Amino acid sequence: MYRTAETYTVVVVMSAALTSAAAAAADQRPDGWWKSAVVYQIYPRSFQDSNGDGLGDIPGITSRLDYLAELGVDVIWLSPVYRSPQVDNGYDISDYRDIDPLFGTLEDLDTLIAQAHERGVKLVMDLVVNHTSDQHAWFTESRDPASAKRDWYFWRPARPGTVPGTPGAEPDGSIAAFAPSAWTFDPASGQYYLGIFSPGQPDLNWENPDVREAVYAMMRWWVARGIDGFRMDVINLISKPEELTSGAVLPPGGESSLGRIANGRRLHEFLAEMNRAVGLDEHRLLTVGEMPGATVEVARAVTDPARGELTMVFTFEHMNLDQAPGGDKWDLAGLSLPRLKGNLAAWQDGLADAGWNSLYLDNHDQPRAVSRFGDDSPPHRVNSAKTLGTVLHLHKGTPYVYQGEEFGMTNAPFGAIGDYRDVESLNYHALALAGGRPEADVLRSLVAKSRDHARTPVQWDATDNAGFTTGTPWFAVNPNYAAINAEQARRDPGSVFAHVQKLIALRHADETVREGRFALLLPDHEQIWAFTRTRGDDRLLVVANCSSLPCAWPVGQLPDLTDAELLLGTHADARDGELAPWESRILRLA
Ligand code: GLC
Repeated sequence: MYRTAETYTVVVVMSAALTSAAAAAADQRPDGWWKSAVVYQIYPRSFQDSNGDGLGDIPGITSRLDYLAELGVDVIWLSPVYRSPQVDNGYDISDYRDIDPLFGTLEDLDTLIAQAHERGVKLVMDLVVNHTSDQHAWFTESRDPASAKRDWYFWRPARPGTVPGTPGAEPDGSIAAFAPSAWTFDPASGQYYLGIFSPGQPDLNWENPDVREAVYAMMRWWVARGIDGFRMDVINLISKPEELTSGAVLPPGGESSLGRIANGRRLHEFLAEMNRAVGLDEHRLLTVGEMPGATVEVARAVTDPARGELTMVFTFEHMNLDQAPGGDKWDLAGLSLPRLKGNLAAWQDGLADAGWNSLYLDNHDQPRAVSRFGDDSPPHRVNSAKTLGTVLHLHKGTPYVYQGEEFGMTNAPFGAIGDYRDVESLNYHALALAGGRPEADVLRSLVAKSRDHARTPVQWDATDNAGFTTGTPWFAVNPNYAAINAEQARRDPGSVFAHVQKLIALRHADETVREGRFALLLPDHEQIWAFTRTRGDDRLLVVANCSSLPCAWPVGQLPDLTDAELLLGTHADARDGELAPWESRILRLA
């Protein structure tokens, strides 16, 4: 289409308006605003349907903004709503500048942003640029060996001495996160391309400066639309190993490619370049990098403000504590409280003087926190969800609440493989069975760890389909919705919702919750998670019984409680000298 003089004027006026919208939004973002913020993650397809097609959408989110404002969160992080073939529920993007019709339109998104801003709630978009969809125009063009975009992705010939396209001819033996091989054969050119997640998610070649500039231009376009930040999907995988970038294949070793690709040598350079090119700091955006395999040292470097990279990262270390050493997430192992609290403490200490933590127990890739780290049986569900909240929100960093976590949604009672939808779960099931693992074992791993637990529809109320949709939900609602739902929790002053509301209010009001120095107490205690937060003379003490058995107060091993003030507790009938199962207290010491 040619641009007429008239449409040209419209474009210029609109972009001027957008630029001033971006400038106005930046004014609402004082330096370091994200340090006192609580972020709420929305997985759009499971949040709220507005049109009865059984799939959550953007107008559905807008219709729930008052609920989020009532909870008190400051920021929404929206999992991907871009155009996508939905191989990985939107983490495979075919057009970064448009909304998938499943979720609505760009106008719907503008309305969501404007209405969120009216309520003082900011909006952070998911940024998935380690890979695109195989349906993205960049990749379609790249399929042609003569195209200028051939080098935007990683194309390699078959292994020498093999027949291209036959089993075992892949350039190397790497397996993908969600597929048997990280290499997919393209019959047209006789070559393979790299997709470390799935064939529908080819990896971009960040060594190519044109790729980087195209990504930055797209990010600037979103910033001009008035968004408040980016959550960056697997961003520490963008700088690939030298073997691969110098034209060969991936270095050998390891089961999956991920571990060998993380934290590449140009990671910091790329992030700093992105920050400058997009103006991430200049616009005072929240930028959180998802970083599987990142150590505390990497995180400190990335989040040290002096280096101008990102404001915070998502670590995976605490998510990997309930897997057997040397295994993957499906190799189940019991969780030990000393290891969990010790790990979080190591990140607190490591980022105490430079950098910033993000705090999470739940997201769209993890089973439900109350089922995994708490006790979701009826007598303990509410208190264990509250106490996990107490502990998490009282660490130093920016807490993230995942949809439904605020009222204690649990894992689903999945049984047969037909109950699952997620590409990762289905791929694991197929590969493990092909490898000879008994199905009962495979299902045991799935029911413990599948990402699908996080993806059942939000349970809004006790009406049909939990108020999620008037149609047929894309994924079965957890049958416990009649008892566990947002409406019930909002009306009950003793609910998880009410407790999380208070935790959020406490963070907003209390400088020591935001900035106080963290110190872990009783590191080896098997039941109690206790720590202090200190800022000058002010000291908070958090004591939590993270078990389903009562626990004696560890007399003489915690700071003196004379004249201490109880800021928030889980139990109205708290008793001296004892902690009830899953009881926690936040105290201000005299
Ligand atoms: C991230 C996302 C996950 C997705 C993967 C590939 O880990 O959180 O949902 O499957 O990246 O994009």
